[in-house]
Amino acid sequence: MAKINDNYLKLPGSYLFSTIAKKVAAYSAANPDKEVIKMGIGDVTKPLAPAVIEAMHKAVDEMGTAEGFHGYGPEQGYDFLREKIVEKDYQARGIDIAADEIFVSDGAKSDCGNIGDIFSVDNKVAVCDPVYPVYVDTNAMAGRAGDFINEHWSNLYYMPCTEENGFMPQLPTEKVDMIYLCFPNNPTGVSATRAQLKPWVDYAKENGAVILYDSAYEAFITNPDVPHSIYEIEGAKEVAIEFRSFSKTAGFTGTRCAYTVVPHELKLDGVELNGLWNRRQCTKFNGVPYIIQKAAAAVYSDEGYKQTRDAIAYYLENAKIIREALTEAGLSVYGGENAPYIWAKTPNGMKSWDFFDKLLEEANVVTTPGAGFGPSGEGYIRLTAFSTKENTIKAMEKIKAIL
Ligand code: MLT
Repeated sequence: MAKINDNYLKLPGSYLFSTIAKKVAAYSAANPDKEVIKMGIGDVTKPLAPAVIEAMHKAVDEMGTAEGFHGYGPEQGYDFLREKIVEKDYQARGIDIAADEIFVSDGAKSDCGNIGDIFSVDNKVAVCDPVYPVYVDTNAMAGRAGDFINEHWSNLYYMPCTEENGFMPQLPTEKVDMIYLCFPNNPTGVSATRAQLKPWVDYAKENGAVILYDSAYEAFITNPDVPHSIYEIEGAKEVAIEFRSFSKTAGFTGTRCAYTVVPHELKLDGVELNGLWNRRQCTKFNGVPYIIQKAAAAVYSDEGYKQTRDAIAYYLENAKIIREALTEAGLSVYGGENAPYIWAKTPNGMKSWDFFDKLLEEANVVTTPGAGFGPSGEGYIRLTAFSTKENTIKAMEKIKAIL
């Protein structure tokens, strides 16, 4: 008889954002007269930039001609996009990355999950707590996380990020093999400076560990001491894989385009991980559509860059509005300065799902309960700055009124 991958049976409930979407749908169905403002999942609201749309239209027209038609593209991404990424995201910051170290994909979420394919199931995995659930759930699916007991996976190494340590993970006190780091952080919105990242690169080098660095929110960085890439840290190319995304940078959440950097210098047992990831992608992935990659390349044009940065500034202004309003309402508030996420402590030690319910039912605002990101997220909620400015202001007025 065929057997299932019973690691799936160990997963608790449904994926965090699916659970929230179900709760919100049920509330809206029962209260059709209420206008619900969504500040839960980090989905953008601003339309795609005009330069992006123009490039897309042009690519669509090309696809309708014999000369301009594109069938299967390179699994790693078209050179025109990989070269732009190298030039604008790396060389412009003094980082030496080659085009064949860039792998264009349909999302950082997929890549963060799929990357596990090239690692042994015996590896010890370290995650921040709270954490973006994809890192945990995909390792659980692969059988690397052990069993889920008392809100903890038995084989994962948790690095608590709490108010006491400024939401900064501390270096593991036991040997770990794979370390997921995300800065600017999802969910806390806290960012790490170069000086704070350096010890992680040193740890990885000393212990033969690999850092899986999620840099999906780098476009929101305003502080010059905060690196946009882990490769700004000396030696990181030997120990780190970096994930980037056009989702939040350029509003591609529904358009789907991202990329992962696997440097040639990164080797385990003398084997280049670049070659393994290339083999994995060629076998399981057929590339991002030409039209979408043309749209992504337009983000690097002068107009595209300006237009997308205007959108980032707009969201950062929302983040400021949220920070100020929640502080005024008496909550302790973190993040939101170099990130689109605001991490707020619930009032009077309220449980985060209870506070989520209160905000949904009394203020009609959707947030994300901190407990959904891990045990240390209990007692917090996360809000996103990706709503419209009007709705952000409206939501904050409603929250202030009920607190
Ligand atoms: C989030 O809300 O944490 C993100 O939008 C989820 C994602 O990017 O997949």
